[in-house]
Amino acid sequence: MGFKKDFLWGAATSSAQIEGACLEDGKTLTIWESLVEGRIANGEDCKESCDHYHRYKEDVALMRQMGLKCYRFSISWARIFPDNSGVVNKKGLSFYSNLIDELLKNRIEPMITLFHWDLPMWIYNDGGYENNHFSDLFLEYTKVVVDEFSNRVQYWITINEPQCFIGAGCYYGGHAPFLRVGDERIGVITKNVMFAHGKAVKYIREHAGLSPKIGFAPTASIYMPIQNSQEEIEKAYQKTFDSNNGVAGAAWWAEPIVAGIIPSNMKFLTQDDLSVIHQPLDFYAFNIYQPENSNELKTQGVPRNSLNWAIIPECIYWASKFYYQRYNLPILVSENGMPNLDYVYEDGKVYDPQRVYYIKNHLMHLKKAISEGVEVIGFLYWSFMDNFEWTFGYDPRFGLVYVDYKTEQRIPKESAIYYKGIIATNGNNL
Ligand code: GCO
Repeated sequence: MGFKKDFLWGAATSSAQIEGACLEDGKTLTIWESLVEGRIANGEDCKESCDHYHRYKEDVALMRQMGLKCYRFSISWARIFPDNSGVVNKKGLSFYSNLIDELLKNRIEPMITLFHWDLPMWIYNDGGYENNHFSDLFLEYTKVVVDEFSNRVQYWITINEPQCFIGAGCYYGGHAPFLRVGDERIGVITKNVMFAHGKAVKYIREHAGLSPKIGFAPTASIYMPIQNSQEEIEKAYQKTFDSNNGVAGAAWWAEPIVAGIIPSNMKFLTQDDLSVIHQPLDFYAFNIYQPENSNELKTQGVPRNSLNWAIIPECIYWASKFYYQRYNLPILVSENGMPNLDYVYEDGKVYDPQRVYYIKNHLMHLKKAISEGVEVIGFLYWSFMDNFEWTFGYDPRFGLVYVDYKTEQRIPKESAIYYKGIIATNGNNL
């Protein structure tokens, strides 16, 4: 069995990482623009980044050229609600409306991520994720977006990688807003974010124009078996879903949200809370780059990307198997990709054979999971184009499309041409 006929071959981005235009048409600042002084490599920032805000037509044309069937992007909350007045910024909505029209015109399925880390500063200043009303603010924002776009958009992702924006952002202090709040406050924050997710899902489900497909996009946080024995597989599975992995692990988010189970170390949640948090979803999405590091996993000598992450393509097979087994939902690979030291050669082209290798091998392992009965609805390469990689700035280039940040010129890389070929055969040439 191969990839489904209507498989969503696509690519993903997020607002803060590509849009630029950070104060244009009424948008106000977010935590990734205001709180990052001295935090980003080379003193860089995301205020201009790829200038996608002004170049979205050119970017969609490149997607079309590549044959993408689906494009996952996020909406910047601060463009829609620039302040606490409750007044919607129509110009912000127009940008996404035009983008969606452009995608549909080019027969590319739009997939909206409602929240990909760029919390508006006005919310941060009012308590941020700890604000008692956080989930209601998110619901108000969701309503506007859904009322405006759901007659054109079918695929919805509520939140992206809570493991990172809450784990790294509020507990470990490595991402904006760079907090280390401790266990008690992380309980409050977790609950607020889960309520935001749950209320959004319910609203989308009940009010969307087109019959919606809804999920969220956690990190895969996958532990791999060291050997292919039943015992090792079972051990890896248990470890993957062990709630002791905490806020940066899989169970912390997925067990309450997807399975309606409260892990023993999440005493701040009640059964009543689950009636809001645990809403039916249409797919289980995950973002996957590498397996979790464990003592047993020997990575000596494996290929590495430019952030020194290990390249171990089997992880996508195990993640698909484990999540399908556990949650019994169709799988969506909502992000998978690698940063590379790409540059433009004398002939004006960008050769990235490492990325071709990466894509090919990950897709082969995904195909293996499919052949063993896992239902997979799509694969979204991260990222459509080079962009702002958070605290790492612009050095790690994840794109299928190269961006020259001086001129904003786009150049599809060798991997883009390779990916196009895969899409054209629906993965049969793998
Ligand atoms: C994430 C985010 C993306 C990143 C990508 C590479 O997964 O961290 O969704 O915004 O850019 O993952 O690190």
